[in-house]
Amino acid sequence: APKTQVEYDYDGPSMKTSVPGPRSQVLNAAHVYSQNVGAINFFCNYDESRGNYLVDVDGNRMLDIYTQISSIPIGYNHPALIKLMSDPSSLSTLVNRPALGILPPENFPDKLTESLLSVAPSGMSRVQTMACGSCSNENAYKAMFILYRVSEYYYCCCHRPFYQGVPGCPDLSILSFMGAFHGRTMGCLATTHSKAIHKLDVPSFDWPIAPFPKLQYPLEEFTRENAQEEARCLEEVEDLIVKWRQKGKPVAGIVIEPIQAEGGDNHASPDFFRNLRNIARKHGCAFHVDEVQTGGGNTGKLWAHEHWGMDDPADIVSFSKKLLTGGYYHRDELQADKPYRIFNTWMGDPSKNLLLAEVLNVIRRENLLEEVTRSGKALLNGLYDLQAQFPGLLSRARGQGTFCAIDICDDATRSSILLKARDKGVLLGGCGDRSIRFRPSLVFKEYHVHIFLNIFSEVLAQHK
Ligand SMILES: Cc1ncc(COP(=O)(O)O)c(C=O)c1O
Repeated sequence: APKTQVEYDYDGPSMKTSVPGPRSQVLNAAHVYSQNVGAINFFCNYDESRGNYLVDVDGNRMLDIYTQISSIPIGYNHPALIKLMSDPSSLSTLVNRPALGILPPENFPDKLTESLLSVAPSGMSRVQTMACGSCSNENAYKAMFILYRVSEYYYCCCHRPFYQGVPGCPDLSILSFMGAFHGRTMGCLATTHSKAIHKLDVPSFDWPIAPFPKLQYPLEEFTRENAQEEARCLEEVEDLIVKWRQKGKPVAGIVIEPIQAEGGDNHASPDFFRNLRNIARKHGCAFHVDEVQTGGGNTGKLWAHEHWGMDDPADIVSFSKKLLTGGYYHRDELQADKPYRIFNTWMGDPSKNLLLAEVLNVIRRENLLEEVTRSGKALLNGLYDLQAQFPGLLSRARGQGTFCAIDICDDATRSSILLKARDKGVLLGGCGDRSIRFRPSLVFKEYHVHIFLNIFSEVLAQHK
């Protein structure tokens, strides 16, 4: 039997150089001729990386609490995944990447049932695989537009659909929220509003943008104020839907993240989402929940929208990152009526479904969602303690499971803290204007939380 992850993990960070080390710098200098290297942090040694620890080419071993922008579900080189991929029967899936929309392999329906369909959100029995998060959202938007037009068909006595208007490219819109991030392709970018640089110089659509609630934390202490803020935002949503209909650009769909991630880890209450879902229904807009970052277990549930306690949470749920393949679940009505309307060459990658089926087995076998809830509590309590200890430096600790964040007094101090933490062997990410986000994999246990808190408090002490 494969060793469990706990035995397989390293016992702590180990630093040999500052990061990026000399070897990373040499590689970067060579790479600069073929790519824009501005975003590269350092080069990695994925052979040596294990569990919660990412090893770089200079031999530095870092506790990874950012996990490749939240996309590693069960740590590096998990023995169960190595075993699966070492099995000769996996080879053909790895070697041959099919055009899934036209020539899927024999086992594709079974693998979908074992992987994505085994964790389908409530009310959804259909899934469309795609390559990445943006590609998933982009196609989900198309599906919502197509559905909107179908609702304008009428059916003759032989049940043939007829479109009453002029066929073509209609003026429809998607309503999104300030601070949202849904990707960087053109349609997605029109609904992304987290940082100006993402959109600079790129044309966009005239689509409505509603305010996302700006809540006060801890949420339990500000229920009245937060409820008022959420009501204000919901009112604005309805106003915008009416305005855009009057402008001749009706809202075909509403897209929202359960927790705005890239935009600064902004939370809203289950009540807010339930009311928003009802507004969407009332106005005939499809409701799209983007779980690209929140999906996969970090919040303590496989889907963050499960925290809302609804049987009918959405019409579309998109995913990628920890699910290893992109795609979206949808209700039956969102199935396009003709082939090639929702289509591209690869439409996903069967080798990722193979891996995902095993990842889900590990999550179930090792009770990883319970572990996440446990380590999430330890992490958030630790952040509350540090916030009390460093009040000038830290504020607004918040989170659900290990999907946590904290604000730093300003952007420059945040950058300095992130770099110092990295040199001490802890990898973290930023989000929003001045937040640090925590995105460990699901094998991040309570003792990893304590390793992190010890190192982080040393770093904070240097910034006092
Ligand atoms: C909520 C959300 N949606 C969509 C995306 C886009 O995914 P990708 O970068 O795979 O295109 C991201 C990426 O961070 C995301 O966080």
